[in-house]
Amino acid sequence: MNMNKVMVIGAGQMGGGIAQVAATAGLHVYVFDLNLEQAQQSVITIERFLEKAVAKKKITATEKADILSRIHITGELSRAKEVDLVIEAIVEKLDVKSQLFRQLDKICPPHTILASNTSSLPITEIAAATSRPQKVIGMHFMNPVPIMRLVEVIRGLATSDETFNTIEQLAKTMNKVAVEVNDNPGFVSNRVLMPMINEAIYCVYEGVATVEAVDDVMKLGMNHPMGPLTLADHIGLDTCLSIMEILHEGFADSKYRPCPLLRKYVKAGWVGKKSGRGFYTYD
Ligand code: CAA
Ligand code: NAD
Repeated sequence: MNMNKVMVIGAGQMGGGIAQVAATAGLHVYVFDLNLEQAQQSVITIERFLEKAVAKKKITATEKADILSRIHITGELSRAKEVDLVIEAIVEKLDVKSQLFRQLDKICPPHTILASNTSSLPITEIAAATSRPQKVIGMHFMNPVPIMRLVEVIRGLATSDETFNTIEQLAKTMNKVAVEVNDNPGFVSNRVLMPMINEAIYCVYEGVATVEAVDDVMKLGMNHPMGPLTLADHIGLDTCLSIMEILHEGFADSKYRPCPLLRKYVKAGWVGKKSGRGFYTYD
C-alpha cells in the first residue's frame, strides 16, 4: 500500500517521537492532541533534537528543514479523512482508545489503517470498536522513539496480512526492527519489563533499599542503561500503573498486583518526569 500521509494522535512523549520518525521517513504528518499546547510543545522538542543532530553533523540543516516542513499541527480530528494511516498514542485506557477508534472509523476513508501504540491493551478489543478490524493493528514503539530500534507489531484477531505487511514495511522505512507478537496483555515487552519495575517499587515500599540503591543495583549489577525507577519516571508512573492493572486483570493472577506505593504516587500526581516529580524530581 502506498503510504503518504499519517496522523499521530496524542502528542505526549511517544506521539512526539513517532511524529519525528514518521516525518524523517518522508511521510507528511498531522499531529493532533486534545491539548493544543502539548502538540506545539512536541514540535518544539522535535526541533531541538533535530538541531542537535545538525550540530553533530548527523543530518544537514536542509534535511532538518525538510523534516519539519512535513509536520503539521492540527486542532481538527476531521483531517484524519486525508490520511493513509493513523497512529494513536493517547492515554492507556481501553474505553478512551475505543471511543477514539469509533470516531476515526467514521472519519477515515476505507483504505486507512488505524494503528495503536498501546503498551498493553488488547488490539482485538480496540478493533471491535470499528467496522474495519482487518485494518486495525498494534504498532508499539519504545521510548525514546527516535533512539530505540524495536517496534512490537501486534495483530488483532481479524488483522489482515496486507495490514501487517504494510506496517512491517513502514517500520523498516523508519529504520526500526519490527517484531511480531501475539495479542496478549502487555505483549512481550511489558509482560517482562513492567513486573520488574513493579518489583523495584516494592523494594522501596518494603524498605529493602532506597530509590537510588535499587537503581544502582540494576545499573551496576545488571548493566541496565537506566535503573528501573528512573525508567519508570521516564515512562510515566500513570502509564506504568495502567499497564500493571491491565496485566493483573488480563491474567487474573496476583503476581501482577500493582505496588500500593505506585498507586499512591499516581494519586498524588507524582507521575514522573512529565510532571516534574516521581521517584526523582526534575526541573
Ligand atoms: N529523543 C530523542 N533523542 C534522545 C532522547 C529523546 N527523548 N533521549 C536521548 N536521546 C539521544 C541523545 O540526544 C543522544 O544522542 P547522541 O548519541 O546523538 O548524542 C543519545 O540519545 C544518547 O543519549 P544520552 O547520551 O543523553 O544518554 P544515554 O547514553 O544514557 O542514553 C537512553 C539514553 C538511550 C534513553 C538510555 O538511557 C536507555 O537506553 N535507557 C533505557 C530506555 C528503555 O528501556 N526504553 C524502553 C522503555 S519501555 C517502553 O518504551 C515500552 C512501554 O510500553 C512502556
Ligand atoms: P503522555 O501522557 O505523555 O501523552 C498522552 C497525550 O495524549 C497527552 O498529550 C494528552 O493530552 C493526549 N490525549 C489524551 N486523550 C486524548 C484524546 N482522546 N485525543 C487526543 N489526545 C489525547 O503519554 P505517552 O507516554 O506518550 O503514552 C501514550 C501511549 O503510548 C499510551 O498508550 C502508552 O501506554 C503508550 N506507550 C508509552 C510508552 C512510554 O514509555 N511512555 C512507551 C510505549 C508506548
